[in-house]
Parts: sequence; structure tokens; C-alpha cells
Amino acid sequence: MTENILVAAAWPYANAEIHVGNLTGSYLPADIFARYQRMRGRNVIFVSGSDSHGTPITVRADAEKSTPYNVYQRYHAGFIDLFQKLGLTYDLFTSTHTDNHATVARTVFMALKNNGFLYKESQQQWYSTRQQRFLPDRYVEGTCYICGFEGARSDQCDRCGNILEAERLIDPKSKIDGSTPELRSTEHYFLDLAKLQQLVVEFLKVRESYWRPNVLRQSLGQILSEGLRGRPITRDLDWGISLPKEILAEGKEWESKCLYVWFEAVIGYLSASIEWSQLSGNPDAWRSWWQDGEARCYYFIGKDNIPFHAIIWPAELIGMGDEFDRLLGSKHPSPMVLPYDVPANEFMNIESQKISGSRNWAVWANDFLTRYDPDALRYYLTVNMPEAKDTDWDWDDFFHRNNDELVATWGNLANRVLSFAYKHWQGVVPDPGELTPFDLDLLTEIEDGFKTVGGELEAVHLRAALAEAMRLASEVNRYLDVTAPWQTIKTDKTAAGRAIFTALKAIDSLKTLFAPFLPFTSDQLNGFMGYDGSLFGSQIPQKISDSLGEHTILRYDPAGATGRWEPSSLRPGQVLRQPQPLFKKLEPRIVEEEREKLGKTHS
Ligand code: MF3
Ligand code: ZN
Repeated sequence: MTENILVAAAWPYANAEIHVGNLTGSYLPADIFARYQRMRGRNVIFVSGSDSHGTPITVRADAEKSTPYNVYQRYHAGFIDLFQKLGLTYDLFTSTHTDNHATVARTVFMALKNNGFLYKESQQQWYSTRQQRFLPDRYVEGTCYICGFEGARSDQCDRCGNILEAERLIDPKSKIDGSTPELRSTEHYFLDLAKLQQLVVEFLKVRESYWRPNVLRQSLGQILSEGLRGRPITRDLDWGISLPKEILAEGKEWESKCLYVWFEAVIGYLSASIEWSQLSGNPDAWRSWWQDGEARCYYFIGKDNIPFHAIIWPAELIGMGDEFDRLLGSKHPSPMVLPYDVPANEFMNIESQKISGSRNWAVWANDFLTRYDPDALRYYLTVNMPEAKDTDWDWDDFFHRNNDELVATWGNLANRVLSFAYKHWQGVVPDPGELTPFDLDLLTEIEDGFKTVGGELEAVHLRAALAEAMRLASEVNRYLDVTAPWQTIKTDKTAAGRAIFTALKAIDSLKTLFAPFLPFTSDQLNGFMGYDGSLFGSQIPQKISDSLGEHTILRYDPAGATGRWEPSSLRPGQVLRQPQPLFKKLEPRIVEEEREKLGKTHS
């Protein structure tokens, strides 16, 4: 059985606030999956961090007349704060701006070089004569030479998703001053993807049967039709990871260059695992996820990240082989575990329009949480998760799903049954006597949920998993419609007690089935049911500092977590606690109020 599971979620750029599209695209599915796997008793590490280098950060710093370091610090601190409120249980949420990450990234670079997968070449790059500097990546925008999109950045097109070759961009314009840059020659290191192509294709073919079609289209399909060409992995930029000392020794010109942000950010999954191991006091622990062939690595990302995770990162892992480990000084160097799955999501729109930060056409996670609860958000983002196609955040739909499903079907069920038991059986779980076949049928169906919901979760079908859990909650409501303990209590308290016991046991199991999705309220319910402790561990922020500065990391501590993916073992006589409603019913007026805010600039 697979015991070691790496859950990797995209690293947010430390240049913008997080909106619901980012959450539903990758961070939330990763957390749901990680929580579920932990409840199954698997060895999970869930890692990510702030993507803090490259032009995404410097362009923002220029715009704010600030420094890249300050921009990174500010957004990074905001992420840490938000992820605690949302219950995103990263075993480690760190950043690419650490000594550890820089060292690991340079070691990967050298491993690729030693294995013959890097080459040096002069390349034409956009240069601003006005600014007297090269303009890498996001500093230049123009028309995509593949799909014709006019707002393409020189390294990637946001419409067709292709990674671009900067010098082929049509009608390029400088992001700094709108001027037209010229091409100048500059030397860079390239990742020899042509040489790695065959191995990458073999890697993808083995996974073809179970990967999402969109991910295959943008990886295997793309390679088979276009082939792979070498890509520059260094840049003329000073905000980033400087090159390995062996490269600096090649000449002075390398001092003003750094590693390309995408080359090093994906390495973050590995460096964060290593950092986590060091913090946990077992510096070699990461090997169980990265070198044990049985381990499974899942990468939760949005569709714009597919080429980097389904082609470039596997190519880096294949290319470094066991040389990375050899460079670490290992006596028995091992090669690296390749991605098992890359369950990329599509995009979420807001009220039928593409999310746009600059136009404030977005639902910002932090702002949302000032008015609503985290589980309400997690619920709506899961039932509406863009697993197979783009979906739409619609405030009216949010309102209805909150009130009609979360509150009416699940919250009221739990509250009604618990309150009734609490009131009529002196706060303890009633003794049911002998259960009838009708009671047992319900309990069997709920027990089967651990297989059906669990099966969907294993396959990363999170919408289907949650829908199945909600269907089972409706079954309990139906059971109560038939047994009507609120009525029978007047004439037959034993029958009422039997129905309430059965419903409580079903609810206790449902609490577990819902827990990966709705961790806050499941934990609350766990307390009302009379259990001590909590289903999950806790998130602990911690300050660390190294030669690059000081920052906060977030660590998940699993100690004391009682949640197990197992049916309820509730017994008569268990002492309940005074229940309270789990969810808030929303007023219809919020729909218009929220729609009003869209598109208005931030105050
Ligand atoms: N920062 C990128 C984004 O937000 C994602 C990077 S994922 C990584 O689109 F693995 F490369 F870090
Ligand atoms: Zn395009």
C-alpha cells in the first residue's frame, strides 16, 4: 500500500492578494486531499511557499516604488495569516527567498549540468536602450505568436497557456515605459529539453490512463505535435537566486544574472521538503517522499501552470537523476520520484467574467472572511471547483447553496438531532435497545460512504466526493421524516430514542466524511458529540531568519489529531455537549450587496 504521499500546492506569487480563484484552483483541493490522506493514516507532507523571485515581484515593486524584498515580505505575511484562518494545513509553508532553497536550487542546476542537460548559448533578448537594461519575462508584453492574444507576456501567454520564446513575441512593448525594446545578444544557460524529450514522453505515457485530459493535452499532446526545444533558465535580472559559484567562476558577466524564477520555483517542492525534514529533527526524512519509488507525489495547480509541472519539472527531476543526491554527498545516491498526478484545475470566473485583480473583479479571500465563515467558503469552492471546465462564482448561487444545502441539509440535521437528544435524554446518547432493519439499513449506507466518498477522494474527484457526502446527509433527513422521533416521543419514547440514536450515529460518521472539506465545523460537531480533543492538529507560525532576511513560516503539527477515516463508534450513554448551529443562514440581500462591490476600486 502507498504510505508516503507528497501533497504539493502551487506557490503563490508574493505580488498579489489571494482570491477565490487561486484557492479553488490549487490550495484548497490540496488541503482537502492532505487532510483526507492523513485521516487514512498515510504519511503526508503538504508543502508550498511564497514564490518570491523574478519579474512578477520586481514589476510590482517598480509600480509601488518599493523594493522587491518589501513586496515579498508584505504579501508573504498576508498569506501566512490567511492560511491559518482558512485552515490550510501545510506541513510547511515557506518561501523561495531562503538560503536553503537557494542552495538546493543551485545544486539541482549543477546536477543537470554535470549530467549534460544544460548548455550555454547566446540568445537574442529584449533590451531597453532608454533604461539601459534587459527586459526579461513580464517586462515585455505583446502579441502571442501562437494564438494572437494581444496581452501576452514574453515568457507565457495567458490565453493559450503556452510557454513562449521571448524573441518571437510580436509587437513587443516595455512594461516600464511602453517603449519598443530591441533585441540584443546575451549569453544564458539552457535546459536541454530536446535531449530530455524522449524520457519525458515515456514518463507521461505511463500516466496517460489516469491523468486529466486537459493536463495531457498541454503536456503529452503538445510534445508529440510540436516537440521540445531548449529553454533558457537564467535571466539578466538581479532579484533572484544568484548562480552557483562554479558558474560565477566562468566570467564576470554571470554576476548580473540569476536563475529563471520558474526554473527554481518548482524546485521549491523539494527544498521545502528538505527544510521540513530539518525542522522536524530528521534531516533525511524527505527521502521517503522523493526517493522511495512507492511514494506518490500529487501536484495541485491551476491550468496556467500545467507546462511547468507536467513538462519542465519532470524534465528537471529526470535530468538530475541521482546526481543531485551525489552532490549532497550521499554514499548511495538515488534518483528522484516523478509526479504521480498533476490534477490541474481550470479557472473560476466571477459572475461570468474573468477574474481581474486590477479591475477588482474578484472575491478576495481575506475580505470574504470578514463577513462569512471559512467552511462556507470551502463548501462553495468545492461544489463549484473547476475540475473539468471553468466554473462561475455567482453570489446568488453562493447564497442558495449555503442556505439550501449547507444549512438546510447538513447543519440543521446535526443541530436538530443533537438539540433534541440533549433536551429529552438529559444530554446523553440514548440507549436504542434493538435496532430495526430500517435503522440498520441507514447505518450500512452511511458506512459504505467511507468507501464511496473515500474512493472519489483517492481519485481527486473532490466535487463528487462532497456531493456523495451531502447525498448521505439527505438520506438521514429522509430517515427522520419516516421515523419522526419528534412525534413518536409523545407516545413511544423507546422508538424515538432508537431513531435518535441511529441518527446521531449517522451524523457522527458524516462529521468524518465532511471533515476534509469542512474542518472547522466538523471539529465543532465532534465536540458537541461529546468527544475530547480535536480531529486535526494545529498550525503553528514560526519566525526564522537566515542570511537573506527574516520571515515567518507556517507549520502543521499533527499532534493530538483524533480524526480517522472510520465509521462512528458512538455508544449509548456518551455525554453530549450543548449544541449550537454549525452554519449561518444568509440574508437574501447579501446577493445584491456583494454584486455592488464588484469592479469598484479598493478603498
Ligand atoms: N507562482 C506561480 C503562480 O502563482 C506558481 C508557481 S508554482 C511553483 O502561478 F511550483 F513553480 F512554485
Ligand atoms: Zn497565446
